[in-house]
Amino acid sequence: MNLDLSTPTHSPSAPVAAPRYLPALDQFSLRGRVIVITGATGVLGESMSLAVAEAGARVVVLGRNDARARARVDAIEATGGEAMAVLADVLDQDQMQAACDKVLSAWGTIDGLVNAAGGNMPGATVGPDQDLFDFSIEQTRGAVDLNLFGTVIPTTVFGRVMAEKGRGSIVNVSSLTAQRPLTRVLGYTMAKKAVEAYTQWMAVELGLRYGGALRMNAIAPGVFLTEQNRSLLVNPDGGHTERAHKFIAHTPFQRFGKPEELTGTLIYLLSDASRFVSGETVMVDGGFNAYSGV
Ligand SMILES: NC(=O)c1ccc[n+]([C@@H]2O[C@H](COP(=O)([O-])OP(=O)(O)OC[C@H]3O[C@@H](n4cnc5c(N)ncnc54)[C@H](OP(=O)(O)O)[C@@H]3O)[C@@H](O)[C@H]2O)c1
Repeated sequence: MNLDLSTPTHSPSAPVAAPRYLPALDQFSLRGRVIVITGATGVLGESMSLAVAEAGARVVVLGRNDARARARVDAIEATGGEAMAVLADVLDQDQMQAACDKVLSAWGTIDGLVNAAGGNMPGATVGPDQDLFDFSIEQTRGAVDLNLFGTVIPTTVFGRVMAEKGRGSIVNVSSLTAQRPLTRVLGYTMAKKAVEAYTQWMAVELGLRYGGALRMNAIAPGVFLTEQNRSLLVNPDGGHTERAHKFIAHTPFQRFGKPEELTGTLIYLLSDASRFVSGETVMVDGGFNAYSGV
C-alpha cells in the first residue's frame, strides 16, 4: 500500500471543516469590554479590579469610599489599564441609575457586572451567649438587604443595558455559608443563600429570554481575611480567634484564601471561556465545602 503523506487528502477547493475548539487563551480575554465591579473598593474587590483590567477590560470601580476608589483607579492606570471611579450606594436605585448613566456617557457600553459589594455586619450576628429568639431583626434585615438587594438592585440597572445590547455576563458573590451555614452570621447566611437562588432564577430567565448571550453565575469564596470579617477572625492582640482556627482546621488547604486566588474563576465567568455556563456557583474555598472533617 502506498501511503504518501505529502499528498493532501482533500482538494484545495474543498470546504475546510470549522475547528471544533476555540483558541484557548483568547476565550479568557476581556479586551475592549466595560466591566462594572461593585465592592471594588473592598479587599477582594482590589484583586478583582486589577485582574479584570489586566485581562483587557475597562473597569468601573464602584464603591462609596472615595480615597479607596481613587487608589484602585490609580493602581490600574499605573499598569497601563483604564478605570473610572464611581461613588454610589448599591441599595439606592437612583444612585445606581446615575452611576450607569455616567459609565454610558463616558464609555458608551457595559459588558459585565460583578456584584461584590456586601459582607457580614457585626450587629447582624447571633453570638453563642445570645438569646436565639431575641436578636436584632433590624440589623439582620440590614445584612439581608446589603447582600441580597445589593446584588439585585445593581443588576436591575446595569443588567438592562446588557440585555438591550444583547450580550453580557453577571457574576454575583456568594459565600461558603450558603452551602454550609456558619454559626453566628444569620442575616449573612440567609442573604447569600438567597443570592444563589437569585443566580439560578435569573440565569434561567436570561437564558430563556435572551439566549446564551446574557448569563449569570456566582463565586462562593471560602474564608479570606478582609475588613468585613476581621472582628470574627482576629483578636485585638492580632492573633487568630478560636473561630479562625476552626476555619483553618476545616479547610483541607489548612489556610485562608488569598484575594488573588479568586480572580482566575472571576475572569473565567466574565469571559467567553464560560460561554455555555449559567446559573452555576463556583466554590473557591481550598476544599472547605467538600471536607467532612474526618
Ligand atoms: N472575605 C471573605 O472571607 C468572604 C467570603 C465569602 C464571601 N465574601 C464576599 O465577598 C464580597 C467582598 O467582600 P470583602 O471580603 O472584600 O469585604 P470588604 O473588604 O469589607 O469590602 C466590602 C465592599 O462592599 C462595599 N459596600 C458595602 N456596602 C455598600 C453599599 N451600601 N454600597 C456600595 N458598596 C458597598 C464596600 O464599599 P465601600 O467601603 O466603598 O463603602 C466594599 O467595597 C462580599 O460580598 C462578601 O460577602 C467574602
